[in-house]
Amino acid sequence: GWKMEDVLDEEIKVIKGMVGPEDHVICALSGGVDSTVAATLVHKAIGERLHCVFVDNGLLRYKERERVMKTFERDLHLPVTCVDATEQFLSNLKGVVDPEVKRKIIGKEFISIFDAFAQDLEHKLGKRPGYLVQGTLYPDVIESCPPPGSGRSHSHTIKSHHNVGGLPKDMKLKLIEPLKLLFKDEVRELGRILEVPVAFLKRHPFPGPGLAVRVLGDVTEGNALEILRQVDEIFIQSIKDAGIYDSIWQAFAVFLPIKSVGVQGDQRTHSHVVALRAVTSQDGMTADWYNFEHKFLDDVARKICNSVRGVNRVVQDITSKPPSTIEWE
Ligand code: XMP
Repeated sequence: GWKMEDVLDEEIKVIKGMVGPEDHVICALSGGVDSTVAATLVHKAIGERLHCVFVDNGLLRYKERERVMKTFERDLHLPVTCVDATEQFLSNLKGVVDPEVKRKIIGKEFISIFDAFAQDLEHKLGKRPGYLVQGTLYPDVIESCPPPGSGRSHSHTIKSHHNVGGLPKDMKLKLIEPLKLLFKDEVRELGRILEVPVAFLKRHPFPGPGLAVRVLGDVTEGNALEILRQVDEIFIQSIKDAGIYDSIWQAFAVFLPIKSVGVQGDQRTHSHVVALRAVTSQDGMTADWYNFEHKFLDDVARKICNSVRGVNRVVQDITSKPPSTIEWE
């Protein structure tokens, strides 16, 4: 492997050489490790000429907006604007069930928000920002757009990751992708050197389209998003309490658009089913399902059904990648 201190110095040099002294740069923070490390690195190189935006798309996890904004502002001192675009995203997703269509809509909405953010900045600065930072990693590059000679063509692209290659031509922003040759563990190492809080660096990956790919079917149906947030929080908190969070690559709950019959108290119920998924992985390209202890699963399922209204059944996903992907959509 490379020495991460050298990679950092080299990246800062490259960014300083690339971005002129009068140029401004924008960055979309997702709340994940990748964009946070990328922004912190660019901030170190060019300071206040970096302008970050965090979009609340209504598809975030329990208290996520408050939690990540605190890290950005209090711990990292990043210049960041928070945009609440919940209405815009959810109204465009209403009635949409096809996973790829969902991803395309979300990607398009993100771009329209970044565009508006860039235009606002242009007004304020009297000058158009010239660059966009993206936290693209090496596995994103090879899954979304396989390099020539890799034996994989574009038609074999697995999913359209919204954060790779989806920018409109007329945006005229040049890309800064300081992590594009790195794997996840290397990004975490880089973040540690940049003094990003360790608990933040250890956070499991979270997809750009957020809970939209974890509520199967129409995300605006009923209170699916709210149910999923509560179930997911119980699952993740239980994993942390059990001391196994760092042994897992990714853990999350999935909302299934079906109901099954249950009995709670002496009442017959007809309520939702949620699935729990936890996997181990090196880089997200392949994954094995995580084998919890019997008692852990028993406790977590009981807790979910007892405290989340509208759920009476919990199932566990026991497939690896391949044949499944990590996310369900
Ligand atoms: P899959 O589901 O393809 O996921 O096995 C592999 C890894 O990528 C994450 N993922 C995404 N990340 N934008 C992202 O930034 C996306 O559109 C996206 N889709 C999946 C997924 O959570 C897993 O870590």
